[in-house]
Amino acid sequence: MRVLVTAGPTREALDPVRYLTNRSSGKMGYAMADAFAQAGHAVLLISGPTNLDVPDGVDFLPIENAQEMLEAVKRHIGRMDAAVFAAAVADYRPASVSEQKIKKTGETLTLELVKTPDILGSVRGEFGFTGTLVGFAAETQNLLENARAKLQRKGCDLVIANDVSKPGIGFDSDRNEVLLVFPEHTEALPEDEKHHLAPRIVREIERIAAERITG
Ligand code: PMT
Repeated sequence: MRVLVTAGPTREALDPVRYLTNRSSGKMGYAMADAFAQAGHAVLLISGPTNLDVPDGVDFLPIENAQEMLEAVKRHIGRMDAAVFAAAVADYRPASVSEQKIKKTGETLTLELVKTPDILGSVRGEFGFTGTLVGFAAETQNLLENARAKLQRKGCDLVIANDVSKPGIGFDSDRNEVLLVFPEHTEALPEDEKHHLAPRIVREIERIAAERITG
């Protein structure tokens, strides 16, 4: 398969030296890209800034912010058989980017934020993608309900849900504990290294893709 994977955080600029971001290290998305490549698939990894090495045999497209990630996904998704969205895209960005460094003037500073584009949510409708679509859901409560709602709202074949309030898993950790949320059922995978979970999840995605082809 040709597979697109998004990974890492986005950085939303505030002024020339500051940005809004989140704690994503990219480890989960890079582990997915690596596992797909090891299984013989052609992988394009679209990633926000991380400290990780690009896995062997993976094509790499670095981006900085949500708008750039949207444009990269839009440009490449048409030729993909499967797409996996592991990036932690900022949901809001500063309404304007100051050309100069913002000066320390008052005791408080109020930022106006505007919504970033929902990249995963654009894939089925706006981009017309008909391949296998996999999202992640980073939740701190109601893991299953919220993940199932994302699966339906965004037209995914699978949503991989992780509880990002649990210490030692999820954001910026080598380990994760995920719930695989399919349209008809749910499967819990025990906590493990992201590099061990990824090949297991890749096998599920291969199975879904094969079923979509054979009907
Ligand atoms: O990078 P690590 O440190 O290894 O951490 C891994 C992780 C916790 C980041 C990863 O496992 C994970 O959960 N990634 C998704 C994080 C997220 O933003 O989840 P969400 O529930 O807010 O978003 C739902 C889905 O929509 C995700 O597939 C996300 O990539 C996508 N999305 C979200 C917002 C947006 N503007 N565009 C998107 O495409």
